[in-house]
Amino acid sequence: MPLDGRAGADSYTIGVRQFRQQVLPPGRPTTTVWGYGSTGRPETFHYPAFTIEAEYGRAVQIRWVNQLLDANGRYLPHLLPVDPTLHWANPPGGAPGRDSRPTFTSTPGPYRGPVPIVTHLHGGANEEESDGYAEAWYLPDAHGIPRDYARVGSFYEEFATKSAARFGVPWDPGEAVFHYANRGRAATLWFHDHTLGITRLNVYAGMAGFYLLRGGPSDLEEGILPGPAPRPGDPSGTRYHEIPIVIQDRSFRTDGSLFYPTSRALFDKFKGPYVPGSDIAPIWNPEYFGNAMVTNGRTWPVLPVEPRRYRFRLLNGCNARTLILKIVSDPVTRRPALAALALWQLGSEGGFLPAPVRREELLLAPAERADIIVDFTSLPVSAELYLINEGPDAAFAGGTAGTDFAAADPMTTGQVMKFVIKPLATADTSTPPSQLTLPPFEPLGAADRTRRVSLNELASARLPHVGPREVLLGTFDPHGKPQPLGWDDPITENPALGSTEIWEIHNLTKDAHPIHIHEVQFQIVDRQKIPAGSRRPPEAWERGFKDTVLAYPYAITRVRVRFGQAGRYMWHCHILEHEDNEMMRPFRVGPA
Ligand code: C2O
Ligand code: CU
Repeated sequence: MPLDGRAGADSYTIGVRQFRQQVLPPGRPTTTVWGYGSTGRPETFHYPAFTIEAEYGRAVQIRWVNQLLDANGRYLPHLLPVDPTLHWANPPGGAPGRDSRPTFTSTPGPYRGPVPIVTHLHGGANEEESDGYAEAWYLPDAHGIPRDYARVGSFYEEFATKSAARFGVPWDPGEAVFHYANRGRAATLWFHDHTLGITRLNVYAGMAGFYLLRGGPSDLEEGILPGPAPRPGDPSGTRYHEIPIVIQDRSFRTDGSLFYPTSRALFDKFKGPYVPGSDIAPIWNPEYFGNAMVTNGRTWPVLPVEPRRYRFRLLNGCNARTLILKIVSDPVTRRPALAALALWQLGSEGGFLPAPVRREELLLAPAERADIIVDFTSLPVSAELYLINEGPDAAFAGGTAGTDFAAADPMTTGQVMKFVIKPLATADTSTPPSQLTLPPFEPLGAADRTRRVSLNELASARLPHVGPREVLLGTFDPHGKPQPLGWDDPITENPALGSTEIWEIHNLTKDAHPIHIHEVQFQIVDRQKIPAGSRRPPEAWERGFKDTVLAYPYAITRVRVRFGQAGRYMWHCHILEHEDNEMMRPFRVGPA
């Protein structure tokens, strides 16, 4: 569903609002969500957002407006429990700015203040002022905001001024105007909220959508793949053979409202209640796993499909869950579907792979995408198939399916969606995936230098038995000792503009972490067990460009990155609970 721009100009005004939507099955209560839509067209507000269609070489300008307001123009409080002891963007009475980790001596009460937003286009390559930097957030232009809240984050003014000078478009209060050049490879991008310390909550509330970049030298000509969704107003616009699918886990209360825990004591295997003076954040959970699967904003939807080929753009939009996806004919016994029904992966985060890869199952970590073809041609009308998830209902520790964890509950989180075959409406003229030649693939050149970075788990100093206090990114000191660093520590990664680097990501923790670097598309070089494994090349489906890579526990993951955009950006773990508790670092490309 394209979000319609004005004819001739890809210019949009997109708000974030609160509204109700039927997320649970029909007949069940509706759910209050936060989502994006075209400000002039209330019917376009949807969770997940309508897809933005972008064309190679044609810029898109988006005015992102924070409209988290009630009918009287007063700000709305957060739908979910904010933990103000994390590096939370706007603590009441706290200094806005570059060190916003407040200290509390008792359990803080629920935060009822206004809610900041800032939108990141994940996978794009854009200027810093359009990146959606975590401290470039802004509140709604609302009534009733107490004086002791900052209206904007500490990088907002600088970026607003720069952007206005460059594009001649001023930013009004409560909004940001971002410019996307669309000069990258044709790819499945997505946008989502990125506000410091509450990204997990804003995204969980619904702030996410697809941004499909098409055309240019790295795309296939039309007609070769199952067709894109028809444009609005197209009279034949009832057939969708290309469908973006975002998979997210959520939990609900019986009244239909979204549930997110108010304390880790409720769920944590470590059972640590908040202790006054503790160094463990009282509300934050190390990872949150919902107990229902929500696919494109519906729990366990059913998609009627024709016996033909479909192109699905899959996105793992979960906060913390790593998915292992398969198509089977019985979701409980997990009986495999007909042998012919494979998942043909054509692309990853950065567009098409060098060649199609036939897969039986897809491992997809948070923020990873897979562009796949599923061929339903051989199936009889009214056959039923299920997209299932065999990923764990807990933190992902790596390995392959079924080896070191219990797979998701086949009755709930093990099911994603259902397909039912309906009669064929028109002949399928797309090319079979096994015969596809993908666009020319140009790998990155030799690296100018190698940089070592570390992922470190920190136990609580005061309550060590309660488990991890935080997981931090970091570097190594001159003696080779890992050096964990927080968000506010000085920048340690400063690649030269136009340089190519190998980043050696040393994961010194027991869990796998999906690591995302902003505004680049990198290539995986290899992985190596610590201390002394042999170097394992990337899997066939990891040989394209990626912006998020799963760093396995106690292993080095090497990626080759070219830094083509000057400015201040971030890299982080895409487990949103980790990111929100400082598993995120700024980096700068080029001189300050
Ligand atoms: Cu998808 Cu920095 O995020
Ligand atoms: Cu992580």
